[in-house]
Amino acid sequence: MVLSIWHEARDGMKLGVASFVCFTVAILPGMLVRYGIKSKLVPILYLYRREFGKLMFLFALNHYLTIKVFPTIQAQSTVTFPFYQFIGFVALFLSLFLFLTSNDWAVKKLGKLWQKLHKLVYVIVWLIFLHVAIAQGFSPLSTLIFIVAIAETMSLVNFYLTKLNLDK
Ligand code: HEM
Repeated sequence: MVLSIWHEARDGMKLGVASFVCFTVAILPGMLVRYGIKSKLVPILYLYRREFGKLMFLFALNHYLTIKVFPTIQAQSTVTFPFYQFIGFVALFLSLFLFLTSNDWAVKKLGKLWQKLHKLVYVIVWLIFLHVAIAQGFSPLSTLIFIVAIAETMSLVNFYLTKLNLDK
C-alpha cells in the first residue's frame, strides 16, 4: 500500500507540471502581444488559449486529488496542511473562477469585469512559483516558473508603459 501511495504521489507531481505547462501556453499569446512580438504562432495560440486554461485547472485539480486527498483518505492519516500546500490551494481556488468563466457566455455576461477577473493570472503565476519554490527550494522547475512569472509581470509593466507613452 505504501508503494501504491508513493506511485500516486509521483503521478500527482507530473499532473502539477502538466498544469503549469498548460498555464504557460494559455498566457503565452497575451504575453507575446504585450511585448509587441508579431509571430504567426500568436493567432494559433489565441485560438486554443481558453482550452489550455481549462486544462490547467483540470490538471491542477487532479494533482490536488492524487497527491493530497486520495492518499490522506487511503492512509487514514491526520490532515496536515503545510504552508506551500496552502498556497497551492489558493492558486487552485483562484483558478476555479477562471475555469468557470472561460466561455463566451461569461465574457458577454461579465463585460469589463471579465478582464479584471482574468487579471488573476498575474497573482496565480506567483502563487504557483511560491508553491513549488517553498516545497523544493532552488530547482530547475522553480527557476523556470520564476522566469515565466517575471516575464508575465514585466509584459504587463511593458504594456502600461507603452500606453503611457502613447497617451502623452
Ligand atoms: C494551481 C494549483 C497547483 C499547481 C499549478 C501546482 C503545481 C505543482 C508543481 C509544478 C509541482 C512540482 C512537481 C514536480 O516537482 O514534479 C507541485 C508539487 C506539489 N504540489 Fe502542487 N500545484 C498546485 C496545487 C496544489 C495543491 C492544492 C496541493 C495540496 C494541497 C499541492 C500539493 C503538492 C505537493 C505535495 C507537491 C510535492 C512537493 C515536493 O515535495 O516537491 N499542489 N505542484
